[in-house]
Amino acid sequence: MTRFSGFAAFGLLLFQSLVTASPRPCLDGLCSVTRLNITSQQVARELGPLLSRNSSIFGPDDPRFASTTARYQQYQPPTIKMVVQPGCEADIPKIVKYSNANSIPFLTVNRAHGLTATLGKFTGMQIDMGMLRDITIQKGGSTAIFQGGAYDGQVIDYLWDKGYVTTTGSCACVGMLGPGLGGGHGRYQGFYGMISDNIVKLNVVLADGQAITVSEKSHPDLLWAMKGAGHNFGIVTSFELKIYPRLVDTWYYKNYLWKQDKLETMFTELNKLHLRANKTRELAVNYGTYGVNASISTTEAVIWWSFTYAGPQKDAQQYFDAFDKIPAEFVEDGNVPYSGIPDATGSGVDQPLCAKGFEHVHSTTYLDVWNVTSQRQIYDLFQQKITQQPLVAGSIIMLEDYSTIGVKAVDPKTSAFPWRERNLMTFVSPVLPVRFQADIFFISSVHAVNFPPNSSLDAFAAEWAKETLDLFNKGSGIPPSTYVNYAAGNEPIEQMYGTEPWRLQKLRSLKAQYDPSGRFNYYNPITPAKY
Ligand SMILES: Cc1cc2nc3c(=O)[nH]c(=O)nc-3n(C[C@H](O)[C@H](O)[C@H](O)COP(=O)(O)OP(=O)(O)OC[C@H]3O[C@@H](n4cnc5c(N)ncnc54)[C@H](O)[C@@H]3O)c2cc1C
Ligand SMILES: *[C@@H]1O[C@H](CO)[C@@H](O)[C@H](O)[C@H]1NC(C)=O
Ligand SMILES: *[C@@H]1O[C@H](CO)[C@@H](O)[C@H](O)[C@H]1NC(C)=O
Ligand SMILES: *[C@@H]1O[C@H](CO)[C@@H](O)[C@H](O)[C@H]1NC(C)=O
Ligand SMILES: *[C@@H]1O[C@H](CO)[C@@H](O)[C@H](O)[C@H]1NC(C)=O
Ligand SMILES: *[C@@H]1O[C@H](CO)[C@@H](O)[C@H](O)[C@H]1NC(C)=O
Ligand SMILES: *[C@@H]1O[C@H](CO)[C@@H](O)[C@H](O)[C@H]1NC(C)=O
Repeated sequence: MTRFSGFAAFGLLLFQSLVTASPRPCLDGLCSVTRLNITSQQVARELGPLLSRNSSIFGPDDPRFASTTARYQQYQPPTIKMVVQPGCEADIPKIVKYSNANSIPFLTVNRAHGLTATLGKFTGMQIDMGMLRDITIQKGGSTAIFQGGAYDGQVIDYLWDKGYVTTTGSCACVGMLGPGLGGGHGRYQGFYGMISDNIVKLNVVLADGQAITVSEKSHPDLLWAMKGAGHNFGIVTSFELKIYPRLVDTWYYKNYLWKQDKLETMFTELNKLHLRANKTRELAVNYGTYGVNASISTTEAVIWWSFTYAGPQKDAQQYFDAFDKIPAEFVEDGNVPYSGIPDATGSGVDQPLCAKGFEHVHSTTYLDVWNVTSQRQIYDLFQQKITQQPLVAGSIIMLEDYSTIGVKAVDPKTSAFPWRERNLMTFVSPVLPVRFQADIFFISSVHAVNFPPNSSLDAFAAEWAKETLDLFNKGSGIPPSTYVNYAAGNEPIEQMYGTEPWRLQKLRSLKAQYDPSGRFNYYNPITPAKY
């Protein structure tokens, strides 16, 4: 750990002379005297002495750089010139003010699973949240305060051990706020809504370095905006979130592997299950993939599907009888503590779904119902593509169906998250009354780590992603809509932030107020990036 106290006097001197030397600070990011090519050593000398002892500043020559800047998404990634790790929350306003004074763009990074290609427009300083992971359960046990670097797996484990649960993403590897600032889909949303629905307070550092509290009492308009479009507005140093007593001691999970000839039967049963899930919040989520499993076949993609139920098998079994009747290649199940569910269902920190270092050329859309005809077309296209180009045989299509009871219980006007009532507004098919929030798929052009970039493969994968998206949309019966946290970055802004005009108007007027120079414009920005 680099400590700066030794440099303190020297560094402070340097910093002061620098500030006096520059005629005026360059706050709009457009001035010609950007110091973007400043070295990390120089930043360490100037900024380091102002920060707490546990903070670090380092560049590409430091052994920590590679692991700290490793990303899930290596396709069109941001360019990181240096990393600053605040050692405490109070460091963050100082980092932002220093960056502004020197016109250095900054990007908040927590678990580095941000997917969108808009991140690729970034060049500058990574503000790394990795040292800010404290969790403090508040007196009375109805909320807890989490620092800005808290992540799903950590939160699930910590709270469960103490007898609580809260809304998180499903994958143990992702941050709380990456998902939470854009909604935050997860296993407890059927009970309590999304992560954003449970935010009581955010401690935020704004674009100008000012630290403020955002709550119903303080900047309530910003609270509205940050529950759905929060990446556009600030750095959250910590936040208060509702927590709930754990109601059951175990969850039941069941994973199946089916061959493709079961596709029609399986999706027909899934659509029936949704009718029941609509009234059963315990049917928390079921999700699955198309992909190759070498132990079944190295050339033909199989269907993997995983179900989780908040409670024991004896209560859950009624929902599984229909699936048990579909002959499977492989089945596994178990009753485990909730904290064991990510690992049991393919979304644990160390499992392939979470792995960093690959390129994912993806596309995504929300759906309302599984269209069995579309699913067949999408599977067949998958099979055709991996046969044509075995280099992308590690790709998957992922499909998720979350319980929406808790999400729909929240008035859609009360937050910037635009899609909770979308089902009702766009319901077009009278024969399919179930409107669920099934959604997402990634198409991943999986290149091995260190695989040389290959633009012909990128083009192949991008074409495939688009063709698949078109098949989904053609069969969905509703206009395309995108979860902002799954966006590829090429979607229309309204498709991420809502088609009702008042939503973007309100967001943009708040943006003009809180981030007029677009410091936070790298994650699906509601206004275009300025540099
Ligand atoms: C394998 C995988 C699983 C996923 N599972 C889920 C899921 O179950 N549910 C779900 O809803 N989404 C899920 N997602 C999508 C996820 O919400 C986004 O990828 C999210 O951006 C990841 O956050 P992160 O902290 O891991 O990534 P980062 O790249 O570190 O952060 C993403 C962005 O969030 C912002 N940000 C992060 N921390 C802060 C902070 N403290 N203050 C202000 N801004 C901040 C920054 O703009 C940053 O660019 C998943 C994605 C992947 C790749
Ligand atoms: C930084 O870049 C500017 C413009 O490209 C150049 O004039 C200057 O010499 C560079 N400074 C350093 C320290 O490399
Ligand atoms: C600094 O880090 C050490 C070791 O991780 C920790 O014990 C200490 O509490 C930290 N200090 C502050 C002020 O955060
Ligand atoms: C692949 O199939 C085998 C059973 O044949 C199973 O044990 C394994 O978990 C599967 N792998 C994945 C990633 O689903
Ligand atoms: C359940 O289905 C009904 C009828 O389609 C719908 O009106 C309602 O919004 C759904 N509720 C949830 C929580 O999905
Ligand atoms: C790039 O991909 C093409 C197929 O699109 C393949 O023929 C070629 O060998 C790849 N090049 C490298 C360096 O892997
Ligand atoms: C399902 O998808 C097919 C193929 O796109 C389409 O023709 C059909 O209308 C869709 N069915 C429904 C109910 O939307």
